[in-house]
Amino acid sequence: MQTGKGDIAFVRKFQDSDLDEVVNLANSSLTEYYGIDLIYDLARQWPDGFLVYQFGNRVAGFLAGSKYSTNEARILLLAVNRSYRRMGIGSTLVEDFTRICSHLGMMSMRLEVRVDNIEAIDFYKNLKFVIISTMKSYYSDSSDAHIMWRLIS
Ligand code: ACO
Repeated sequence: MQTGKGDIAFVRKFQDSDLDEVVNLANSSLTEYYGIDLIYDLARQWPDGFLVYQFGNRVAGFLAGSKYSTNEARILLLAVNRSYRRMGIGSTLVEDFTRICSHLGMMSMRLEVRVDNIEAIDFYKNLKFVIISTMKSYYSDSSDAHIMWRLIS
């Protein structure tokens, strides 16, 4: 993909050199705190399921996935830099992750999202996720989480 400014943009697997940018992006976009060790561990656990969206020489977004079960994937973390939102980057990351899961024979995906994160809920609904249940006091500040789910087809 060629962007308006002539920068090359594409999705690729996480590399160790992305660590600082990803940690900064996670902690400036998400409400929980994510330490460098945790992000590094997530990348090690499933390297093919940890994607970054490179825009020029920057990381504009990332998605950290995990295997919830043999047939089901889970989106653990997803964030796009504020300056690059509403450009389709989040959707591209989820679609590429979906393709990876599909190639592995997985049938469905799930995630948790704060009940007051209306923007993210709308984003996931736009990608055919539906709310299947709500977990009380899921987050460290006791906020509730919706569980969202979709089939991989
Ligand atoms: N309000 C309403 N609808 C939205 C919004 C919004 N703020 N953002 C996206 N959408 C919907 C729209 O339908 C949009 O299409 P449109 O722009 O043509 O109207 C569609 O989703 C696709 O949007 P993208 O451009 O692909 O999304 P973006 O790259 O901006 O990323 C994201 C969305 C990841 C939610 C971003 O806003 C973000 O980083 N938010 C902060 C972090 C966050 O909340 N992450 C999710 C937490 S839950 C979890 O990680 C499992």
